[in-house]
Amino acid sequence: MSSTPDVILARLQAAGSAFADKKPGAREQLLNLGYSLISSLELPSEAIQRMGWAEPARAAHCRIAVELRIFELLKDSGEQGIDVKDLALKTGADEVLIGRTLKHLAAMNIVAESGTDRYAATRLSNAFTEQRYRDGIIYTHDVAGPSFHGLPDYLKNINYALPTQLTDGPFQAAHKTQLPFFAWLDQNPPYLQIFSSYMGAYRAGKPSWVDPGFYPVSERLATGFDESDGSGVMLVDVGGGRGHDLQELKEKHPSLPGRLILQDQADVVSTVSGEGVFEATAHDFFTPQPVNNARAYYLHSVLHDWGDDDCVRILEQLRPAMKPGYSKLLVNEIIVPGRNAPWPTTSMDQLVFVLGAMAERTESSWENILERAGFKVTHVYNYEMGSESLIEAELA
Ligand SMILES: C[S@@+](CC[C@H](N)C(=O)[O-])C[C@H]1O[C@@H](n2cnc3c(N)ncnc32)[C@H](O)[C@@H]1O
Repeated sequence: MSSTPDVILARLQAAGSAFADKKPGAREQLLNLGYSLISSLELPSEAIQRMGWAEPARAAHCRIAVELRIFELLKDSGEQGIDVKDLALKTGADEVLIGRTLKHLAAMNIVAESGTDRYAATRLSNAFTEQRYRDGIIYTHDVAGPSFHGLPDYLKNINYALPTQLTDGPFQAAHKTQLPFFAWLDQNPPYLQIFSSYMGAYRAGKPSWVDPGFYPVSERLATGFDESDGSGVMLVDVGGGRGHDLQELKEKHPSLPGRLILQDQADVVSTVSGEGVFEATAHDFFTPQPVNNARAYYLHSVLHDWGDDDCVRILEQLRPAMKPGYSKLLVNEIIVPGRNAPWPTTSMDQLVFVLGAMAERTESSWENILERAGFKVTHVYNYEMGSESLIEAELA
């Protein structure tokens, strides 16, 4: 049974105090209570209006604003903002059209109104000028969007069976392809670069495994690290995208010894320098791991893109490279709880479902995969209100 507005308001007050005291998880709690408050107050007619028109229009107009660089123009105009007439002149778009776009984006709290037919930037619209967030808007609209839109028809056509094939799911139906998601990204420039760039943004600001109170990096990795042993590698980030996790690891643990190695597809790492922090190398994780005796092999949001058998194949490639009793396997993934799964967890489950016919996993599913690949879990590390967990394992 859902809570009444007065109960939620009382909880909001308590969560507000926790937020003021900078308690971990308080911000996420406030957000969730805010969403609950809306659900408790909103009429069914308003819910349909919001879900069916207001939010799709917001997403579409954010995509248009990215294309026309409207968020940049708002940012450049400072606190005074900019007239719709000037925006039309600078973008080349119709003045009435731009006016209506901005009016909706203001109503949906993306931009601010600074006068009649005059708009200014907000904290959010300024963030949307950063390349990684621009890419997030493009990726979610162009790549994921059509897959969700076509999902009802797709499932009806297959009599509501469960899609499990990487080459035959909602994504393929929406994009009229038989390529798996990553192969399609690769063959449809610039979407691979856009996806990789957005991966560096989708968790920005959220609790990270390297933060205090999550995974004890010094205790579990630095202590016992043998610099003279083999390659002197501290950590290999397998399928690490452009290396944002390695950057963050080094920023938050500057005294961490040893080399950091990034591995990803050749087209992803070709544009990455590592900036003296890590070494970027091309490696297909379905082939034997070339870096031996590293302290840790780390996979973040990699295995959730693959079915159980492929996960086992990927993990088996690591085993011969690992030194028994020394090397650790670190799997950073969502663990779906039995009850009360939060929306970041369920929506990621839906995203991997539409893109790759995959699913987020429970703790026992992860244990099963790791056991099949010849590993045993040593500990699972969680963080207050965080949606990802760090599963630490070693050779069985
Ligand atoms: C969901 S992203 C995760 C990226 C990064 N670890 C993160 O969490 O932000 C999955 C990554 O796997 C990479 N990938 C896909 N197939 C691969 C393969 N066969 N070998 C190496 N990397 C691959 C993709 O390029 C992508 O960077």
